[in-house]
Amino acid sequence: MKILVTGGTGFIGSHTVVELLENNYEVVIVDDFSNSKKEVLDNIKKITNKSFSFYKGNVKDEEMLSLVFEKENIDAVIHFAGFKAIGESVDNPLMYYENNIDTTISLCKVMDKYNCHKLIFSSTATVYDVNDELPLKEDFPKGTTNPYSSTKLMIERILKDLYVSNNDWSIVVLRYFNPIGAHESGLIGENPQGIPNNLMPYILKVAIGELECLTVFGNDYDTKDGTGVRDYIHVVDLAKGHIKAIDYLTNKGIDYFNLGTGVGYSVLDIVNTFESVNGIKINYKIGKRRSGDIAEYYADSSKAEKLLGFKVTKTIEDMCKDSYNYILKNK
Ligand code: WQD
Repeated sequence: MKILVTGGTGFIGSHTVVELLENNYEVVIVDDFSNSKKEVLDNIKKITNKSFSFYKGNVKDEEMLSLVFEKENIDAVIHFAGFKAIGESVDNPLMYYENNIDTTISLCKVMDKYNCHKLIFSSTATVYDVNDELPLKEDFPKGTTNPYSSTKLMIERILKDLYVSNNDWSIVVLRYFNPIGAHESGLIGENPQGIPNNLMPYILKVAIGELECLTVFGNDYDTKDGTGVRDYIHVVDLAKGHIKAIDYLTNKGIDYFNLGTGVGYSVLDIVNTFESVNGIKINYKIGKRRSGDIAEYYADSSKAEKLLGFKVTKTIEDMCKDSYNYILKNK
């Protein structure tokens, strides 16, 4: 089976490509390196010792995409390509709506042209309108508080309408919780440019001395220790969830799955675990809340477990160890 992976050199995309290759799928990557580096291609090859096709370009470019479908006999697509920083989306909403939505529309048009109707879409737990009821289930109310999450929710709705218009489509929407960690080789992982928005990349920059001190955004939430609680999932477990989703594509229709561990950890849990598994001190101070943050959310991923056979294998200790191993090899 030949799988097209858009955004296949990104954090989750690259880990998914590794799992695809190790499960003997043929892989075609399309990526424009807007949020990744060319070296990722070499590192995927080093890890798997398998070959794959690569085309540089933006998924919005229907001509380029058509050439890929002409050349490669694509059976299914996993669509990661898109911008994903919440803060950046608040500052640049039009850039987010144009990029994330246009790429998906272009992709679906070209897929349809080449009679390819199997799609796995990379969505997010931030589409949920989180109130007090936890853990989050797939049919819970939706509502977004930033343009990034709104693009993902809008695309979910576009894909639903697409299936209603043409029942040949098999679409799986995967809603990620908080992916962290890295491949055990330390060859691929997450190392955003500049000052990281997210917790683990920030901790890593403090761990290697690039940044002085972590600011904990608030310790007055109604949580176990007052700091924010999230459902952190190892990026390798998340990648394996995509392999499981491919088998589900034999069903026509559109379906939605949470990919999380079902366990919430606070910011201080992460800091303390990171320090103890890596034998390193992380300087931090308590600051004020970050606007838009909520106290706590974590997944009910029983639907993915039941229908996809999805199962997390990595612990929070693995996530902290593998993240640190990666940054030490790539600082
Ligand atoms: C986690 C916790 C912060 C940074 C992310 C992505 C979003 C989506 C879900 C993909 C919160 C606290 C953070 C820092 C801190 N992923 N924090 N100091 O906000 O849950 O959202 O995952 O769709 O795109 O942004 O993750 O890592 O930013 O924050 O105290 O310097 O860490 O308040 O409680 P978040 P995060």
